[in-house]
Amino acid sequence: MSVPSHAKSVAFSGYGDADVLRLTESPVPEPGPGQVLLRVRAVGVNPLDWKVRRGFMEAVFPVAFPHVPGLEASGVVAAVGADVTAWKPGDEVLGPVAGGYAEYALADAAKLAAKPADLGWEAAAALPVAAESATRALGALGLVPGETLLVHAAAGSVGSLTVQLAVAAGVTVVGTASEANHDHLRALGAIPVRYGEGQFDRIRAAAPQGVDAVLDAAGSGVLAESVALAGGPERVVSLVDPAEAGPLGVRFSGGGPGEDRTVEGLAGALALHRAETLALPVRAALPLADAASAHRLSEQGHGLGKIVLLP
Ligand SMILES: NC(=O)c1ccc[n+]([C@@H]2O[C@H](COP(=O)([O-])OP(=O)(O)OC[C@H]3O[C@@H](n4cnc5c(N)ncnc54)[C@H](OP(=O)(O)O)[C@@H]3O)[C@@H](O)[C@H]2O)c1
Repeated sequence: MSVPSHAKSVAFSGYGDADVLRLTESPVPEPGPGQVLLRVRAVGVNPLDWKVRRGFMEAVFPVAFPHVPGLEASGVVAAVGADVTAWKPGDEVLGPVAGGYAEYALADAAKLAAKPADLGWEAAAALPVAAESATRALGALGLVPGETLLVHAAAGSVGSLTVQLAVAAGVTVVGTASEANHDHLRALGAIPVRYGEGQFDRIRAAAPQGVDAVLDAAGSGVLAESVALAGGPERVVSLVDPAEAGPLGVRFSGGGPGEDRTVEGLAGALALHRAETLALPVRAALPLADAASAHRLSEQGHGLGKIVLLP
């Protein structure tokens, strides 16, 4: 595969609303040791992408401008670093990337997985972040078969993967979602509960046996009541709100150094795909140049399934 010297990407050069995202042409990076250069076929859009773009994450996730967002992708290996033996040009893969809103992006060779031939580019690009986050959260919660897990924002991308992996592990799952997404949760094997006023009464009614652990992927001020429900903060994890978690003694998991579970997460998600039970729909697939529309859609904070961009 011949690699051009320059290629298209979408970047921003200052924090702001979605209009700061610009289609640009820049040099294609060369893979260093341990790296792979991907010809990106699809890239997943994550809430973190617009939170960073808005400057909300500046203290913990500072970026250099111009910054190309994009944490996860599917694509074809275009070139490999000198010491990389696991992959060769032409291999079809999925996994975490740096600067994935681009025709070409670098990836850590050790974190990629082979893309099954019967998994589409869009569906593959949707998996890495959700699979990693769900696997990390479930690991932190230490669930065993027969226990009950409450997932806030169970219909979201991370929530949906968490439900599927937990149900497959023999855990009973109660998940909050808007009513439009209750059939989706039932199909995944979870007990759906409508969020909003009175949700903890509805959760208690849905889980009369009690709740052993709680994952918050919503960040809607539910941690104090979640701690009361679980009988303490030890088995409550937040993926969203470190400020609310800290004073309650709740663990915030941000996927920092030492926490990454990509390899295990992708293995688990691809096992669900092989068993034909994987359900992470792609609700919108837009051209790379429409990244601003993709961000506006993600910022609405509702809806079922992933948004992907197609470079
Ligand atoms: N810390 C980490 O490592 C990490 C990793 C990945 C993601 N995250 C964060 O986790 C959150 C979810 O990410 P995602 O990719 O799953 O997002 P997503 O796919 O956009 O899903 C968001 C979901 O939130 C639900 N929701 C909105 N308001 C809610 C509420 N008050 N109660 C319960 N559910 C509510 C929506 O459900 P309805 O459509 O039914 O309203 C929607 O399905 C984001 O804030 C993201 O930044 C953190």
